[in-house]
Amino acid sequence: MDQNKLKQLVGREAVKYVEDGMTIGLGSGTTVKYMVDTLGEKNKKEHLNLMCVTTSKKTAKQATNLGLTVKELDQVDEINLTIDGADEVDHDFNGIKGGGAALLWEKIVAKNSNRNIWIVDENKMVNHLGKFPLPVEVIPFGSKHLFRELQKMSLNPRFRTNVASALVKTDSGNYIIDLNIGNITDPIKLAEDLKGLTGVVEHGLFIHIVDEVIVGTNDGVRIVNK
Ligand code: A5P
Repeated sequence: MDQNKLKQLVGREAVKYVEDGMTIGLGSGTTVKYMVDTLGEKNKKEHLNLMCVTTSKKTAKQATNLGLTVKELDQVDEINLTIDGADEVDHDFNGIKGGGAALLWEKIVAKNSNRNIWIVDENKMVNHLGKFPLPVEVIPFGSKHLFRELQKMSLNPRFRTNVASALVKTDSGNYIIDLNIGNITDPIKLAEDLKGLTGVVEHGLFIHIVDEVIVGTNDGVRIVNK
């Protein structure tokens, strides 16, 4: 099955978890895009009473265009369920996110959700995190100094740029530095080290956040529970 078909498959599966009256956190990325499309259809067909909170301006636009009710995070009391994508997931249910530069809002929404489901294709299930460059969101002020600090820590940093070679800016106006580390042997320690650096807003290591992963395989959907 081609990758887009797998993304569609897991997106559709995830929407089955959405019930009337829920407040749903909508992630970001190409897999989530399929899920939001399906949610929009379900919402129209079943006349559901849903509220959505989004993790990026892009997802907010898509959801609004589909007729879903989008609220700011601080306008809702609780989020029943958040459905998001991921770049890598290991056996301990830790993950790397932020390939789409939305990691900060994604983590804030995830941490404020009663339940988190990720939707991925099987290539993203790994033994060790780190093949996918780890995104770190940093304040622009002094970011070159922070970059040098990351170099000194042998984390192989690279500023993320767009097709026009301009620095990528997140929805919060920050920069992304991707760390090409290779195998991350101790994600918890690395997460602590990164959080300890002044100027780092957030990193893409999602530790102990996800409850369930819906994995798209050529044989169909596989559900992996904690
Ligand atoms: C966005 O910043 C990310 O965390 C995405 O959820 C992640 O990169 C997965 O994206 P794709 O579904 O596009 O692979």
